[in-house]
Amino acid sequence: MSTSNDFAPPRPLIDPLQRSISYLRVSVTDRCNLRCVYCMPEQGVPFVPHQEILTLEEMTRIIRVAAGMGLRRVRLTGGEPLVRKGVVNLVRWIAQTPGIEDISLTTNGMILASYAHELAAAGLKRVSVSLDTLRPQRFQQITRRGDLSAVMAGIAAARDAGLSPLKLNVVIMREVNDDEIVEIARTTLEEDWQVRFIELMPFMDEQETCIRDTSRPLDFIPSQEVKRQIEEALGPLEAAETSTGGGPAKYYRLPGAQGLIGFISPLSEAQFCATCNRMRLTADGKIRPCLLTDQEVNLKETLRRGGSDDELRQRILKALDSKPDAHHLGDGNRPKWRKMAQIGG
Ligand code: 5AD
Ligand code: SF4
Repeated sequence: MSTSNDFAPPRPLIDPLQRSISYLRVSVTDRCNLRCVYCMPEQGVPFVPHQEILTLEEMTRIIRVAAGMGLRRVRLTGGEPLVRKGVVNLVRWIAQTPGIEDISLTTNGMILASYAHELAAAGLKRVSVSLDTLRPQRFQQITRRGDLSAVMAGIAAARDAGLSPLKLNVVIMREVNDDEIVEIARTTLEEDWQVRFIELMPFMDEQETCIRDTSRPLDFIPSQEVKRQIEEALGPLEAAETSTGGGPAKYYRLPGAQGLIGFISPLSEAQFCATCNRMRLTADGKIRPCLLTDQEVNLKETLRRGGSDDELRQRILKALDSKPDAHHLGDGNRPKWRKMAQIGG
């Protein structure tokens, strides 16, 4: 993996609002072995046929071209990225791409235990694991088919393999898991992981997001309220800096704690999008400049009709130029035809 920055971009990846886009989230598959209530309906979503999904070689080519334009960091997401065959090879190829300095992966952890060491050997640096509860039965309820002990084994394997710092993504839902906020925050006293409390984004139709046996639609809790609960129970949080990620989380530390507590606030933070540094590549080969707007540029079409690297660069720039200023979720904007698992969280 190259650690130098000596790949001068032809036109740098800077959008019209002067945001520098050095980070690409690649959805390697739309398939998933879970059905989290805020992400997928119980019956799943119609999967994109295999031939419409980019091959790993096609993904690698796009990343190589983008790296020549200033892309420096890649995160693999899904669906669940580890259910894609050959994902370890993909990690290896990306790690060998000149210009790429960091590769990470977001996983639900279910099968992480059997991949952690291979992934690390292939060049993966870090993982983020989704973990909304520490209670086995509740985990089963939120994910509809998950097994908390498998995820815990995955987390242990990631640590053992040196994939650090480990990030835990916790989506807080009112009256679903908000009674665990303090308990989860407290784990950072002993564990050197970064717990990130995420505001639930309204991605699903109301009737799809109900937890089984209740008719309650899901509701988010503003980060300020989550933080207040933590401080009331465990004392004041100290602001903390972190060198990894450069993402939207604001980090804090409990006095003397090993780990960090972060807040990701797409709904309550007015300036959330102002420092956005990312774009996305969907599994079916579209560059999506914003998670939450349906604006996309088709790269698969360019690839499959034999388009040149230069054409790919032009298409990537086109996507960048259409990156919206903000997600406008507060004004009722919703991604219309993709679920989260079809974009990559
Ligand atoms: N709101 C907030 N976060 C979400 N994630 C998935 N769906 C949502 C949503 N509707 C998060 C998961 C996972 C990451 C990929 O995206 O917690 O960690
Ligand atoms: Fe799968 Fe992640 Fe969606 Fe859960 S949130 S269903 S683990 S893609």
